[in-house]
Amino acid sequence: MKDIFIVSGGARLHGTVKVAGAKNSVLKLMAAALLAEGTSVLTNCPEILDVPLMKKVLEGLGCTVTIDGDRVEIDTPAQISSDADFDAVRQFRASVCVLGPLTARCGRAKVALPGGDAIGSRPLDMHQSGLERLGATTHIEHGAVVAQADRLVGSHIKLDFPSVGATENILTAAVLAEGTTFLDNAAREPEIVDLCEMLTSMGAKISGAGTSSLTIEGVKKLSPATHEVVGDRIVAGTWAYAAAMTSGDITVTGIAPRHLHLPLEKLKSAGAEIETYENGFRVRMEGRPAAVDYQTLPFPGFPTDLQPMAIGLSAIADGTTMITENVFESRFRFVDEMLRLGADAQVDGHHVVIRGIEQLSSTHVWSSDIRAGAGLVLAALCADEVTTVHDVFHIDRGYPRFVENLSALGATIERSQEETIY
Ligand code: UD1
Repeated sequence: MKDIFIVSGGARLHGTVKVAGAKNSVLKLMAAALLAEGTSVLTNCPEILDVPLMKKVLEGLGCTVTIDGDRVEIDTPAQISSDADFDAVRQFRASVCVLGPLTARCGRAKVALPGGDAIGSRPLDMHQSGLERLGATTHIEHGAVVAQADRLVGSHIKLDFPSVGATENILTAAVLAEGTTFLDNAAREPEIVDLCEMLTSMGAKISGAGTSSLTIEGVKKLSPATHEVVGDRIVAGTWAYAAAMTSGDITVTGIAPRHLHLPLEKLKSAGAEIETYENGFRVRMEGRPAAVDYQTLPFPGFPTDLQPMAIGLSAIADGTTMITENVFESRFRFVDEMLRLGADAQVDGHHVVIRGIEQLSSTHVWSSDIRAGAGLVLAALCADEVTTVHDVFHIDRGYPRFVENLSALGATIERSQEETIY
């Protein structure tokens, strides 16, 4: 039986919530531990489903992985397997981040293709061409991407688009290549900076982290490291939107506010009062938010992962909003679920126009991915009665203790199990 969330609308959320390390960082850091023989330790890890899934991938490659609360220990042996287990990998897309480390460590990597995704097609062409520029050959074989290289040699690589995943795979291969790699149009997300910091403490020589030009001077060998995972800006942003949507008052800790600069500015434009601190922020909203337009873009632009929350806020805003999705083609599938909740939204290609209404109307809705699921829960908090959110395993993949945190903030929400087939 699948878990569901039963959410009552109407509560004004208030209180303090601490965010854990970022899902989109911890998985890549776990993969980076493959680059050095010995025991690497990650702290501030989020207790989410994707972490044990990544543990399974690494164990399939020969590592011993121990998860103890927010601490993950990865013991990487001298010899690791180059072939990532199909069953472990196909369950989640982020597992493709073992491609770079395996190619660097083993001279070969075989990683099952994760296939399509509810948010759009996610090809690996830039991952492959980046590795090819470093001297590898790559091809697709029986549903897996295979990379092979007798030796990796530094090169000049320019990405067509600042892809997060391609930047990570190129980085984690180039750190052990001979010579220097110049990576232009690299992704600048805080999770990339986090990866560069861990690689640097392992002995890698990287400059330019956080800019679009990375210089990676290859080294012969890396050593294991202990590293604290950067706070999850998407979870923090979700709490910020929860405050704004429920006329609430939420203080979020465990996050550098500069990682959420644009989302917080947007909330300010929508009428929220924002205070920022060194390691957190407070969002307060009185009354109905004003409509604000959005365009999703790579960091430091507005994150595509907060687009469902922006749609939720716009659905109850005073005025009309236009949201343009520039990163993932199918992310607007989420809008169909918002229509069930009574939102007045119209999709046209990669734009959606939303005319705000005073209140959403409760019903059954289905999560299609992690962020859409969280967005639906926030929308349900603004609906008139009780909403049932289905397929919440998606939310569990990325939001630690979501129900417990929401309850502590004053929401009426409970986890239950699906009994009827709708
Ligand atoms: C990561 C995040 C995801 C976030 C996204 C953008 C993880 C686990 N996931 O995904 O939550 O929404 O960054 O911030 O970290 N593309 C290609 N060819 C490639 C690679 C990408 O065409 O070789 C396209 C994708 O289809 C997509 C766009 O580039 O349209 C952005 O993808 P990318 O930045 O690579 O996102 P992910 O790393 O998959």
